[in-house]
Amino acid sequence: MTINGDKSLEERILKLKKERNAIILTHNYQRGEVQDIADFVGDSLELSRKASETTADVIVFCGVHFMAETAAIFNPDRIVLLPDMAAGCPMADMITAEQLRQKKKELPKATVVTYINSTAEVKAESDFCCTSANGVQIVESLNNEEVLFVPDQYLGHYISTKTGKKMTLWPGYCPTHAGIQPEDIIRRKQEYSRARVVVHPECRPEVIALADEVASTSGMIRYAGREDVSEIIVGTESGIIHRLQKENPGKKFIPVSEQAICPDMKLITLEKVLRSLETITPQVKVPEAIRIRAKAAVDRMLAIV
Ligand code: 13P
Ligand code: SF4
Repeated sequence: MTINGDKSLEERILKLKKERNAIILTHNYQRGEVQDIADFVGDSLELSRKASETTADVIVFCGVHFMAETAAIFNPDRIVLLPDMAAGCPMADMITAEQLRQKKKELPKATVVTYINSTAEVKAESDFCCTSANGVQIVESLNNEEVLFVPDQYLGHYISTKTGKKMTLWPGYCPTHAGIQPEDIIRRKQEYSRARVVVHPECRPEVIALADEVASTSGMIRYAGREDVSEIIVGTESGIIHRLQKENPGKKFIPVSEQAICPDMKLITLEKVLRSLETITPQVKVPEAIRIRAKAAVDRMLAIV
């Protein structure tokens, strides 16, 4: 579309993307218009896989810093752009590499399983990474009974109940998901009595207890596509509703609460994506010594699922 002789933002992004031989990878929580210009939209596991397979010269990552860092871990010779460097993940910043080293000294026999929502430095101190989509399988596959799980206590608690393994949990949490309360679900259930309740495993155990299904963001997309599902109360960041509605136009998706918004995910805009492609900044880089050790933990995950 052309407005006053100016190419639309979308057109300029797509043209520049071609010229730069770039790929746009976008998380399910991104603004609708940012999802719509992506080459691929997915959850953290799918995005990590895409990042490990790409042959593009430039990766524009529309998500938060740890996701772009994971792309950089796999692509030391490619340019990885995060259109706004301020887009972080507060949970990822709830543990430092030094804190993890101290904890490992207290639990020298434990296998360290680290949620992908973590810094590269923390991944470098870990045995395995996991995502919300594969955490249960990763922990189930371990022979060691002693597991230290960082940084999300709620995902760790969920994995521990599903696997029956006793795990030491770091007390981190996602402010957006921890903000969802059981009362929010109960209220929505009263309003929409036939709707299924689907929640992300970063939610509190009291919220998970009220759910029909617990799933990663892409797990939710698959669940919504089922023929027997027509109405869903969505217990995660509300940006996902754009994709749910687009792929299931006849179905109804109800945000669990108006507050379920991750401000960091919303920092990426079309204007910033364009500027990033024009200037080839800001770039995310991981120091080589950290990258090699962090990659080992992510590779161990990808070898299992
Ligand atoms: P998913 O891997 O399920 O997309 O989750 C990422 C995330 O940041 C959840 O808050
Ligand atoms: Fe981090 Fe939570 Fe935002 Fe996901 S929703 S990026 S876990 S703060």
